Amino acid sequence: MNNGAIILAAGDGKRMKSARPKVMCEVLEKPMIGWVIDSLCEADFSADAIGVVVGNGAEIVSGYVNSLGVTRTFMQAERKGTGHAVMQAADMLDLCDNVLVLCGDAPFIDSDTIRNSLEAHISSESKVTVVTAEIGNPTGYGRIIRDENGSLLRITEQKDCSEQEKLIKEINSGVYWFDSKALKSALPRLQTANAAGEYYLTDVIGITLADGGKVSAFCAGNENIVLGANSRRDLLRLNTIARNAVIDKHLDNGVEFVCTDGIIIGKDVEIGQDCKILPNTILRGKTVIGAGSVIGPNSIIENCTIGEKAELNNVHAYDSVLDNNVKAGPFVHLRPGTTLHDGVKIGDFVEVKNSEVGTMTCIAHLTYVGDSDVGKDVNFGCGCVTANYDGVNKFRTVIGDHAFIGCNTNLIAPVEIGENATTAAGSTITRNVPPDSLVIERGQPRTIEHWEHNSKRKRKA
Ligand code: UD1
Ligand code: CA
Repeated sequence: MNNGAIILAAGDGKRMKSARPKVMCEVLEKPMIGWVIDSLCEADFSADAIGVVVGNGAEIVSGYVNSLGVTRTFMQAERKGTGHAVMQAADMLDLCDNVLVLCGDAPFIDSDTIRNSLEAHISSESKVTVVTAEIGNPTGYGRIIRDENGSLLRITEQKDCSEQEKLIKEINSGVYWFDSKALKSALPRLQTANAAGEYYLTDVIGITLADGGKVSAFCAGNENIVLGANSRRDLLRLNTIARNAVIDKHLDNGVEFVCTDGIIIGKDVEIGQDCKILPNTILRGKTVIGAGSVIGPNSIIENCTIGEKAELNNVHAYDSVLDNNVKAGPFVHLRPGTTLHDGVKIGDFVEVKNSEVGTMTCIAHLTYVGDSDVGKDVNFGCGCVTANYDGVNKFRTVIGDHAFIGCNTNLIAPVEIGENATTAAGSTITRNVPPDSLVIERGQPRTIEHWEHNSKRKRKA
């Protein structure tokens, strides 16, 4: 293959004070390394072209990247520096002509920077191209040292900088393109003669120059690519930047926000024109919302596909599909596997799970519908329950079109209510009900007269 990538993700990140490895800490509810892999995919890297160096929390990081299809992981048992980390992934260098090295804890590297820096790397016939950025406060980063002609000479780490070098504002982003063969030849020659006593990847520049190879710096326009997180405070800052960037994108696309308080929208969420997102709404995962919908306030929508002109007020919905003109809320819980067809209305304190609900059906109050196939234009009265679980197994409830489920009906699954059938309020239905019929299941009322005279309460008085 032409191009491969190595993501360095072995670092421990003690200052994060987390049981998770640092690269698994989340920005907009996605691990930082997930952002890096997304950008690589956007820049047309296949999962097979990506290698990840793992160390601290290796199992957790490997498990996560595997779930994204990235299976090439390399163990760095001891952290001896960025150069040492790349040595562990040396097998990658035999697979590709050029290799991109990046950090798993700098989530804002973007596909344009990846593509444009590769173009510069190829067209300049460089053996090393360092992606740099000019930033206001360069403290902590490696400085880009150029000669009098502006050519890249070396990178000097903060710890190794002279007072003069500390003033340089162009810094190493930690992203580089290497010619694989040149890198392979340089890695065994890295030494640890620096303030940190580590194998610095950046020393490959000097070795390549000494070998007569060309090295270049590609200054990225987007300075956010250098931002990483070492502490919770850094992570909050990254979240704020990402949150505002995502909201800006949706504003540009014609989405309405009257106030963005408490609104968190995942980077992969798609929202149609003229949608309105109200405060305290969290939109997660692969959620798609059709034009003209109103979502919120106080809603969580995760991995849902929602049609046009939906209205969801105080709804928590997970892994569900809602067609056009669905109205739900307030206080509705839609659990995984739910499909609500056009015009369905779900009212207060209703839970629907793993069920299909037909067009124009109305489930207005205090009801649980689980493992059910509900037809169109069905009406549920208040307080209905599908008893789908006998303590061991789950069973389905089937309700035909236009059925009328009276208030406080219990439907003991497996059970089927025919089309146009009615269940009388308070009935507990244990057997199938044929179409067009009325079923009443109530005990005979027993009235005990003069009970009040004999009651204890009366005697006491
Ligand atoms: C590195 C660069 C510095 C640059 C900065 C950008 C070197 C010597 N310095 O410094 O010029 O400005 O990144 O953020 O490369 N890692 C491993 N194994 C290790 C050490 C690090 O996998 O043994 C990983 C870390 O998890 C991290 C990345 O490499 O994802 C960068 O390591 P870090 O220690 O943060 O490097 P910096 O000192 O910030
Ligand atoms: Ca760092």
